[in-house]
Amino acid sequence: MITDSAIAAMLESEKARFEAANPKSRALGAEAARHWHRGVPFHWMLDWGTPFPLFAERAEGARLWDVDGHCYEDFCLGDTGSMFGHSPPPVARAIAEQASRGLTYMLATEDAPIVADELAKRFGLPFWQVTSTASEANRAVIRWCRGITGRDKILVFNGCYHGAVDDVFVDLCDGVPELRKSLVGQVYDVREHTQVIEFNDLAALEVALASGDVAAVLTEPALTNVGMVLPDPGYLEAMRELTNRHGTLLVFDETHTISSGYGGHSMTYGPKPDIFVVGKPVAGGVPCAVFGFSAEVAERMEQLREEGEKGHSGIGTTLSANALALAAMRANLTEVMTPAAYDHMLPLADRLAATLEQVIASHGLPWPVVHVGARAEFICADRAPRNGTEARASMQGALEHAIHLFFINRGVLIAPFHNMMLVSPATTDAQVARLAETLDECLGVLVP
Ligand SMILES: Cc1ncc(COP(=O)(O)O)c(C=O)c1O
Repeated sequence: MITDSAIAAMLESEKARFEAANPKSRALGAEAARHWHRGVPFHWMLDWGTPFPLFAERAEGARLWDVDGHCYEDFCLGDTGSMFGHSPPPVARAIAEQASRGLTYMLATEDAPIVADELAKRFGLPFWQVTSTASEANRAVIRWCRGITGRDKILVFNGCYHGAVDDVFVDLCDGVPELRKSLVGQVYDVREHTQVIEFNDLAALEVALASGDVAAVLTEPALTNVGMVLPDPGYLEAMRELTNRHGTLLVFDETHTISSGYGGHSMTYGPKPDIFVVGKPVAGGVPCAVFGFSAEVAERMEQLREEGEKGHSGIGTTLSANALALAAMRANLTEVMTPAAYDHMLPLADRLAATLEQVIASHGLPWPVVHVGARAEFICADRAPRNGTEARASMQGALEHAIHLFFINRGVLIAPFHNMMLVSPATTDAQVARLAETLDECLGVLVP
């Protein structure tokens, strides 16, 4: 049993420790606040919960150094953007080579066919397009799905996150769809065109699809943005069968679950979607995302464009598929995200999950460690959640904040959102041991 006063005491002492240990970050934060809104170039950089922003100096492999000279074992890895390691040498080389030959031409380069062949082979879908972010890829996919089906609704799951995509910010509150209140400047009631149900609720899925007006189901194969929620056995297969039966397209956003295995979650565990999205790490951290689709979807897209009005499609931006992104993606796919890389990551993540389970149990806590592929999370609750409502109920903001600060002060980074950890091809057993020791030390302070 961890008391509120133990959490408050840890928060107070860890904040003081951070302030004393990071004078350069503090000074840079003060300078930056002159003209950066809230002191950082992008507001997510405040999500770490440190008393002032931490400034990074450099990163390599699975390690990061801050401006005050502290070295961190990095299990956050840019919240998946660097999940195959910081600046993998093949990607760094490809970026340097391309940088001297022009960065963006709005023309394809020789890398294009090689990248497309690689994507098709690895993810099992024949046709591909590139955008600059996963948010943008998801927005494009929603547009295409509505366009080619002639249906206006999409279906998402409570607790989902697919980036800056207005259509999906709908939550279930006590079973009632509500607009996500934190969304800034939202003036449309997206519930008119978006349905939301609980993940792992097959009966609700059946009812939602039976109306025949759902263009697409958009989901991660395992939810990773409301904490981790794994699919029940057979759930995704049933989803595949139901979407087929009702003429609804199945879209897997594998931006995070690319960590599940080579080829993502869908090629590792099945089933295959109609449309597949992956962003963040696909070009080694250079802004880039891709979406792939079946031959049937490609044909319907073609037909829609031929029959429809010519002009702006609302899909893509000027820098989409620029030469730099393609060069980085080629190097990353062919030399970094290899089967050998996954052969290292997956068993190490298994060991990480098992080790953390032992540490947690040794302190008499019931917390589960949810884990698939190279991604794991310890949940500060009695059991693993099965849907978004359960996942939200299991979150313990103050406790998690205290743990994160304790970790940062001892040179360990995990994702600042909930308790997510990633294992990269560069991560070592020694780093996993360090993570486990730090959790052990932290729980030693928190648990009486
Ligand atoms: C599953 C998923 N899809 C899409 C995104 C959006 O990625 P980006 O912010 O790079 O556009 C995220 C970001 O966390 C994500 O987790």
